Amino acid sequence: MTPRTSRRAAILLTVSTALIGLINPVSAYPKGKTIHVTEGNSIQNAIASAKGGDKIVVEKGTYHEQLTISSDGISLVGHDATIVPPDSPVTNACSGLAGDNKQAGICVAGSGILFNTTFDGEHHKVISVGDYVKDVSVEGFSVQGFTGINIAVVGAKDASIRHNTMSDGAQYGALTVGSKDSHINHNTVNAAGGPLNPFHFIGICMDDTSTVTITYNDISGYFIGLCVQTSGAIIHDNSVHDCCIGAFVDPGIDGAKLHDNVITNTPPECGFGWGIRVQGATKTSLKGNNISGIVGTPANPGVGISVADDVGDPTSTGDIASGNTAEQNTLKNNDIDIELTSTGKGNVFKNNDCTVSTPANICPNN
Ligand SMILES: *[C@@H]1O[C@H](CO)[C@@H](O)[C@H](O)[C@H]1NC(C)=O
Ligand SMILES: *[C@@H]1O[C@H](CO)[C@@H](O)[C@H](O)[C@H]1NC(C)=O
Repeated sequence: MTPRTSRRAAILLTVSTALIGLINPVSAYPKGKTIHVTEGNSIQNAIASAKGGDKIVVEKGTYHEQLTISSDGISLVGHDATIVPPDSPVTNACSGLAGDNKQAGICVAGSGILFNTTFDGEHHKVISVGDYVKDVSVEGFSVQGFTGINIAVVGAKDASIRHNTMSDGAQYGALTVGSKDSHINHNTVNAAGGPLNPFHFIGICMDDTSTVTITYNDISGYFIGLCVQTSGAIIHDNSVHDCCIGAFVDPGIDGAKLHDNVITNTPPECGFGWGIRVQGATKTSLKGNNISGIVGTPANPGVGISVADDVGDPTSTGDIASGNTAEQNTLKNNDIDIELTSTGKGNVFKNNDCTVSTPANICPNN
């Protein structure tokens, strides 16, 4: 080998190692150990002893704990493990996030997080994050009955929350806020008694600073199934049923994509219903969603897809909905399938399978 070809080989080797590093984030951690936790022992102690690359397997049982994960590269795997509130609450990074004295079941949290002290009735907004916690995954747990949030992701990067069941979280089933590249997939989020008795506010909410992916979740029994507060959010193949509002896209949110979700059935106690409500958001893409059984009262009819400006009440932002597109959605058995009240430009409805609309000319079948 000439010096020249060997140098090329060395460069190639460096390049390919760099590529492997890029496509496989797991390689950022040494091959870790598996730590087993059995009923009667502390999951939090196991988390404290774990290093990046380690997997903590929690065996069958009920654990009265509030967990915090704030080191990189930890996977927490439940095998028929249930997390319920401890007798006395623990104070951690997620305490108070969803209101004073409200707690989270599992809290994935970075450090140096600066919260806005104003509480808007939903959660404290994140102003900045000192150090993101990276590559944490939580899967296979049943998390039940926390006063704030069953599973919270705050100031994290590349967190993955999957195949968990979150039941009866009073304010939220799952919330990701101030995070990057969160993935919330294949979870079941439900609430006994439905949205109002007692009040169960939001199934899954995303209020992140970069792309978030919310897919294949089954959400039911919440006032709002999906709260969309992240521009560019990717939300598809979720099933949302028995909620007052299937998905709410907030004022000022740009470019959220909601595709192939199935949204059905408004509980009668809601007294109104929205399948998907786009309120003062821009460039939302609604495509291939299947929305049925959204019903309200004669005074407040249920609406499958509603695009409106955020105006008309004291807390309104005045944001105008514009550039939103709804296409190839299927809408059946709703009081009103599609409603456009926005005064904004470029809101387009096309090729939807629907019958009843306001104004009357935006469904092809009437
Ligand atoms: C905190 O939230 C309030 C209310 O939304 C807002 O007016 C204020 O600008 C926020 N503060 C910071 C520092 O972001
Ligand atoms: C969409 O809804 C209709 C009923 O309105 C149902 O027959 C069909 O199977 C649904 N499609 C999907 C993908 O869920």
